[in-house]
Amino acid sequence: MHVHINPAQFAADTHVRLMHKGDIAQGSLAAMLKTARFEGGAGDIAEFFGQDGADRLLVVGLGEADKRDHHAAEKAGGAIAAKLIASGSTHVSVDVSGLDAEAAARLANGALLRAYRFDKYHTKTPDKKKLTLTDLALLNAPEGTAAAWAHHEAIAKGVLFTRDLVTEPANIIYPESYVERAQALRQHGIEIEVLNEAEMTALGMGALLCVSQGSARPGRLLIMKYDGTGGTQTKPVVFVGKGVTFDTGGISIKPAPGMEDMKYDMAGAGAVTGAMLALAARKAKAHVVGICGLVENMPSDRAVRPGDVVTTMSGQTAEVLNTDAEGRLVLADAIWYAQDRFHPEIVIDLATLTGAMVVSLGHEFAGIFSNDEGLAADLLASATASGDKLWRMPLADAYDKAIDSPIADMKNIGGREAGSATAAHFVGRFVQPGVKWAHLDIAGMAWASKDLPLIPKGATGYGVRLLDRYIADHHEG
Ligand code: BES
Ligand code: ZN
Ligand code: ZN
Repeated sequence: MHVHINPAQFAADTHVRLMHKGDIAQGSLAAMLKTARFEGGAGDIAEFFGQDGADRLLVVGLGEADKRDHHAAEKAGGAIAAKLIASGSTHVSVDVSGLDAEAAARLANGALLRAYRFDKYHTKTPDKKKLTLTDLALLNAPEGTAAAWAHHEAIAKGVLFTRDLVTEPANIIYPESYVERAQALRQHGIEIEVLNEAEMTALGMGALLCVSQGSARPGRLLIMKYDGTGGTQTKPVVFVGKGVTFDTGGISIKPAPGMEDMKYDMAGAGAVTGAMLALAARKAKAHVVGICGLVENMPSDRAVRPGDVVTTMSGQTAEVLNTDAEGRLVLADAIWYAQDRFHPEIVIDLATLTGAMVVSLGHEFAGIFSNDEGLAADLLASATASGDKLWRMPLADAYDKAIDSPIADMKNIGGREAGSATAAHFVGRFVQPGVKWAHLDIAGMAWASKDLPLIPKGATGYGVRLLDRYIADHHEG
């Protein structure tokens, strides 16, 4: 969808009027809105035909007028896109007079995010489902809207890149093809490095590699470097993503129903990759490194077995009691590598790590585990501001004890209880002293099973806006 700001000419077939709660409509519209029970709540929508010189008029709610609520503007944009995406309408104009530049840009952002579709594999789309909406114009946009929109458009680009990666099936996106796709980030000034299995073997990454060893697809470690500080920030912030391009569970194989969902077990990596793109595309003044551990978890004659003991890059050993608890093994080596190589003060990992996280928080919040109060508070604030919501989860010695093993330094599962916390502690054992670390378990947030205001059902792109916002608020300027 193309966004036009104050175009000189624009032939709209649909026009949008925005209304706050309590705004009084004039004339016949007032009666029609009353009949439609339209009250102006954020994202509320009423549809009329043949008004305002266009074929169709939408009246869209912005919520309370006194609140400078940018989420409401996004919701309104999302509602417009949802209504029009396959409506037959191609060009929509929105009168944004009265909105500030940020809100106007947010409205366009909401529309762009909600208008996302992944239909490259449909060869026969029924006419009624065909996408029609191609252009959105903001009319009467205040000065500064173009700049605000450029900022949001860059971030949205990252979100959509992530959604594409996460939506692709595992026969298309596997470690080697993933790193190939990531090459597109080079054009934004991101440096890309890739480690193959021989190089990871030489580094001693026995944990990541044991997950990969059952698969015909070789694993990869993807390293993305972006420095928008001209070398003045020496230590980067490091993001680490779990990139299990398909998780069958391995020898501890998952049940058949729902296993197809495990194509999105690389959503942590996807978020990290999209966030790197967003930061570079908007030329963020920060130094950030993104690292993705990319593997496919398959059962085979070569696969790691329950009970096998592996040696991680850190030198610590781990007993693999359940081959389906593979994400933590991947993160262990990816995080160790990140610290050895880049000496960061801050490491943030994202992973679809545990089903238990979905049991705890559903699809409302990702869980955040952190060893640092300041980092946790910063991320929680960025979560609220970005809309990618987080809820704090606890780290505690008792959870850590639960992963002691009689035969190795640790085992890769705890008991039945507190599964997300014991997983977090496994990862935490690979965080070096003094490093501020946050672990985001995004298992419940990577995929939406129903349409949401800014997300058509499917891959959400969760984490991109959160990481971008965190960098903007705490590591720029
Ligand atoms: N990828 C899964 C976790 C997951 C579940 C992500 C649902 C998204 C939605 C992970 O690798 C896994 O299988 N975890 C096991 C751990 C258990 C064996 C300790 C789980 O959660 O059941
Ligand atoms: Zn698993
Ligand atoms: Zn997994």
